[in-house]
Amino acid sequence: MTATASDARRLVAGAGLADKPRKSRWPARLDLAQSGSGLVLGLFMWGHMFFVSTILISPDVMWMVTKGFEGYFFFGRAFPQIVGVIVAIVFALMIGHALLAMRKFPISWKQLHTFNSHRKLLAHEDTTLWWVQAVTGFALFFLAAVHLYQMMVHPGAIGPYESAARVWHGWWPLYLVLLFAVELHGGIGLYRLAVKWDWFASADPAQTRRRLRTVKWAITAFFLALGLLTLAAYMKIGYSQKDIANPVYTPPWLTSPPTAAPPAWWPKYLNTPFRP
Ligand code: HEM
Repeated sequence: MTATASDARRLVAGAGLADKPRKSRWPARLDLAQSGSGLVLGLFMWGHMFFVSTILISPDVMWMVTKGFEGYFFFGRAFPQIVGVIVAIVFALMIGHALLAMRKFPISWKQLHTFNSHRKLLAHEDTTLWWVQAVTGFALFFLAAVHLYQMMVHPGAIGPYESAARVWHGWWPLYLVLLFAVELHGGIGLYRLAVKWDWFASADPAQTRRRLRTVKWAITAFFLALGLLTLAAYMKIGYSQKDIANPVYTPPWLTSPPTAAPPAWWPKYLNTPFRP
């Protein structure tokens, strides 16, 4: 059977080659969704780093933050499932954000080569930063997914001793790389958002950009220092308990029997021993 001219036309149309270019709002909508999801994830990460670093204050404070998220101060009982749901939402947001970001990755050797030539030719810090963001974003697909899955399926295993044991017993290399990847990625991402949507516009755009870059590097350095100190604190506790299987922290006034009096401000309705 021989192909007719009409068959050939249908084939071309079927492959989408006959589509006429037309105006569409979708690229702008997808860009907005990518910016929005990136902003939420970036702000979440700032909060996350502060919550996790409460271990630097004391195990009691970190325990209270953890149990606060589990609804303990509200229900009088801890429900780690609440944390599981929060993690699932963050996970879904991260997957959506990654999917949207993939539109902009170079997808062939030729595209990569063209981008690299432009990057070298322009020698502009913002272009280089875009590349750092693409590379760290790619790394986060794997690094953050492993961490989030662990947190999602074992939300009850978060606490001063529980987290320290995990960090010490094999998770620290992942956290170390994840820390650098996420702080570079998030810092650059928030900086790009500020530039793209003109959040801090002034009469001198070049100077605004310089200032934004300084603030960006200061924030990145701050969170890297905080993250490294936090990791070191978990490692120290983890090392001191390396021979104890599945250590669990409970504040001394909530153990059974209590080994200390509760702080004066401790709510009376929570004066019973803590039962996980
Ligand atoms: C985009 C998502 C996330 C990223 C990129 C991320 C990244 C990180 C990094 C880099 C560390 C090491 C921190 C340090 O060195 O100070 C860490 C630790 C930790 N993260 Fe996340 N995180 C994410 C989401 C979450 C969520 C949703 C939870 C929910 C509870 C969580 C809970 C923890 C805890 C408890 C630790 C301390 C170590 C442990 O218990 O294993 N993270 N995370």
